[in-house]
Amino acid sequence: MLKKLAIGAAFALSLAPAASFAAGGSGHVEDFDFSFEGPFGTYDTNQLQRGLQIYTEVCAACHGLKQVPLRTLADEGGPNLPADQVRAYAAENFSVYDPVEDEDRPAKPTDHFPANTNAGAPDLSLMAKARAGFHGPYGSGMNQLFKGIGGAEYIASLLDGYTGEEKEEAGTIFYGNTAFPGGWISMAPPLSDEQVEFVDGHANDVKSMSKDVSAFLMWSAEPKMMARKQAGFVGVLFLTLLSVMLYLTNKRLWAPHKGKKSS
Ligand code: HEC
Repeated sequence: MLKKLAIGAAFALSLAPAASFAAGGSGHVEDFDFSFEGPFGTYDTNQLQRGLQIYTEVCAACHGLKQVPLRTLADEGGPNLPADQVRAYAAENFSVYDPVEDEDRPAKPTDHFPANTNAGAPDLSLMAKARAGFHGPYGSGMNQLFKGIGGAEYIASLLDGYTGEEKEEAGTIFYGNTAFPGGWISMAPPLSDEQVEFVDGHANDVKSMSKDVSAFLMWSAEPKMMARKQAGFVGVLFLTLLSVMLYLTNKRLWAPHKGKKSS
């Protein structure tokens, strides 16, 4: 009886911090449907290109992407831009400091996206892997088994999660947000309906753009996701085949000694 009680108390204690974290800590994250989910999911090239455009026109004003080489925009399975477009994109949008010439020059595909710390905003290169969308139940992380880690879902929910409320604290304005832990973020709502125009006339409401730019940031954080999934699949296939062959070999080797009562 006493032992049972002790175990019960230990269990309650171990759950308590997790439960209070789940209640106050994490915000609401919607389960967006991304093309790259599941064991066979792939990035949607058009979506990544839209996301790149949104990042360039909106987010780049405050956020850097310094871990990402510009040349990877040409990657197959990524945004897949033609090489000349990557060159033009780099030169038109970014400039880098050249220590030899001692002046700024237009960026080249061999450069990285620039860093940007002017607004005190975090670098977004790895953000989709640095955040988790799904935690529960009770912070155990079980949901991640079924829904994935949810970094892209978190970013999309964050961008689409503004309540419209504002408050000022110690000279900083905070904006109500249902996805941000604590409910108040110092980033003003960056997206508004029809802010970015796509050449193919794709939907440009806040929700669609949130999803597109989040897919792009998932790619920037994990550009080789498709190769990884493919390698995993080949591995599993190989091991399955090996198991079948070992089973048959085993059966065959033991065949002469089995099925006989005595000899
Ligand atoms: C006007 C400047 C500005 C723009 C434009 C901007 N951001 Fe931010 N962003 C910030 C600041 C500042 C923070 C830090 C907020 C905080 O921690 O309270 C931030 C934080 C973030 C975070 C991290 C939230 C977290 O969990 O810590 C993400 C993700 C993000 N921004 C994505 C974006 C995306 C995507 C865009 C483009 C659609 C964008 N931002 C445009 C200023 C900006």
